[in-house]
Amino acid sequence: MKSLGILLSGRGSNFVAIADSIDAGRIPDARISVVISNRADAPGIAIARARGLTALVVPSKGRAREEHDREVVAALNQHRVDLVCLAGYMRLLSPSFVQEFPHRILNIHPSLLPAFPGLEAQEQAFAYGVKVSGCTVHFVDEELDHGAIIVQKTVPVLDGDDEHTLATRILEQEHLAYTEAIKIVLGGSFEVAGRRFVAS
Ligand code: GRF
Repeated sequence: MKSLGILLSGRGSNFVAIADSIDAGRIPDARISVVISNRADAPGIAIARARGLTALVVPSKGRAREEHDREVVAALNQHRVDLVCLAGYMRLLSPSFVQEFPHRILNIHPSLLPAFPGLEAQEQAFAYGVKVSGCTVHFVDEELDHGAIIVQKTVPVLDGDDEHTLATRILEQEHLAYTEAIKIVLGGSFEVAGRRFVAS
């Protein structure tokens, strides 16, 4: 049985999608052993508690990144987490955090990386006028929205879209993509050669 640790800062819809996938057997032999937020008011934390999961708040405000990250890493290790899933976690991880979990931290980003990294990716894509966008699940490295890509899903930008309708359709694909990526990574049959993730 593999243990997942979920880090989030807000709404938590990707967390819920992962939890639902585990409950439905779409991610076999896995459990969520801890959900951690840097914000006490994150709706995702309330949802985690309502689902009976262990939910912790490790406040980040006013604290040095390294110090905050050390506390988060300690909590993840205490709960024997095998795979860390960032699900709307609005923090850049310190190098020591990343190095603690080599190829064991995933992130989801609402664009086709390397296009539109950073905040408000759907708005950036819409404003740029791309005809196709989507989402990316990737390993986390020391750079923002940067590590090897595990799964991408495309979403067409329709003539009648605004940034909100586009974001909604991307989010539907995010929920599918994250489950797919976690399943592949937990399965362990993959290689990472440079930037290339190849499932075997
Ligand atoms: C998602 O769009 C995700 O791709 C991005 O932050 C958002 C989090 O949404 N990293 P939610 O909290 O999972 O609903």
